[in-house]
Amino acid sequence: MIYLDNAATSYPKPQSVIKAVADCLQDYCANPGRSGHKLAIEAARKVFEARETVAQFFNVTDSRNVIFTSNATMAINCACAAILEDSDHVVVSSMEHNAVMRPLRYLEKEGKISLSFIKSGSNGKITGDVTQLLQPNTRLVVINHVSNVNGVVQDIAHITAKIKAYSPSVTVLIDASQSAGVLPIDIQKIGCDFLAFTGHKALYGPQGIGGLIINTDRPLKPFIMGGTGSKSESQYQPEFLPDKYESGTLNLPGIVGLKAGIEYVWPQMEKIRTEEMKHIKKVIECLSGIKGITVYWSNTFEHQIGVVSFSHESISCSEIGQRLDDEYSICVRIGLHCAPLAHETIGSYPDGTVRISVGTFTEDRDIDTFCRAIEQITKV
Ligand code: ALA
Repeated sequence: MIYLDNAATSYPKPQSVIKAVADCLQDYCANPGRSGHKLAIEAARKVFEARETVAQFFNVTDSRNVIFTSNATMAINCACAAILEDSDHVVVSSMEHNAVMRPLRYLEKEGKISLSFIKSGSNGKITGDVTQLLQPNTRLVVINHVSNVNGVVQDIAHITAKIKAYSPSVTVLIDASQSAGVLPIDIQKIGCDFLAFTGHKALYGPQGIGGLIINTDRPLKPFIMGGTGSKSESQYQPEFLPDKYESGTLNLPGIVGLKAGIEYVWPQMEKIRTEEMKHIKKVIECLSGIKGITVYWSNTFEHQIGVVSFSHESISCSEIGQRLDDEYSICVRIGLHCAPLAHETIGSYPDGTVRISVGTFTEDRDIDTFCRAIEQITKV
């Protein structure tokens, strides 16, 4: 089997991640931050260590600003709920995933917020000047760091700096679902207020774990409320971080798996990126040479990660995906990738695309096999 669906979830996982999750389930899977016995204390210590690791990875000064969530979607919903008020204006990039669009479209439909969209080229790269869209009531700008559809990378530090210089009161949320683990992310350098990430993609952790980094002192509203193991005498949600946003029993196996994933990726990020870019260049070259195929990517390797999309003028994406799976055991994702807005921007809506996404375990021969397979499938 050849797995080229790492943008959906990376697979396989490093042995160190598998071992960390298994050790947790076997040796200390008590409830962190609740009971006071030895096993619960050990569990809480593991959560603390993981929080510190995440903080160091993203250069967060205080690890209490790292909130564990079940994925990036929950982190994005949490940030929106924390900051948005009625009559607010929100600006989004035109490459956003439905994790951003659905909560915002819901609020827009309810008449609570208004939305504006930053212009992009047909490769998805932001071309518009965000500051021209800012209004006196603009509360939030959301930018997708790297598209899950075509792998285009946005210059988030430059855009955030421009927004902050123009209007320091506007908060900026970066969706780093696709970039965390691929590109270095230093929240101090970026200067954004929130950063949402997930553990199951390029951080090589298990599914069900992600996080929100809070990099603002502004007053924030709670999101999910409930038991935290702290301030149990009170029927009100604690105001301090991370407890304010971490109600309910934490995903301890996911948290230790995320830590192990970061420890796997971090020391070799440059090497992984070089390898992935080598693979994706080959994919782009091979696809570009086939008559009838349109390739969707950033059009410059500097602003690209190991994710590209393509479609064929007469063979549907579903047929290509099915044949890759049935005849060649190659796993890819087809369709709209939960990002219809991004497909509208790059011109592949409503049919969608076939998406290829490589990972650290992709080998040269996998790409060769994929290229041969696609040449055969498209031979008419
Ligand atoms: N958002 C994930 C993807 O792009 C699931 O496939």
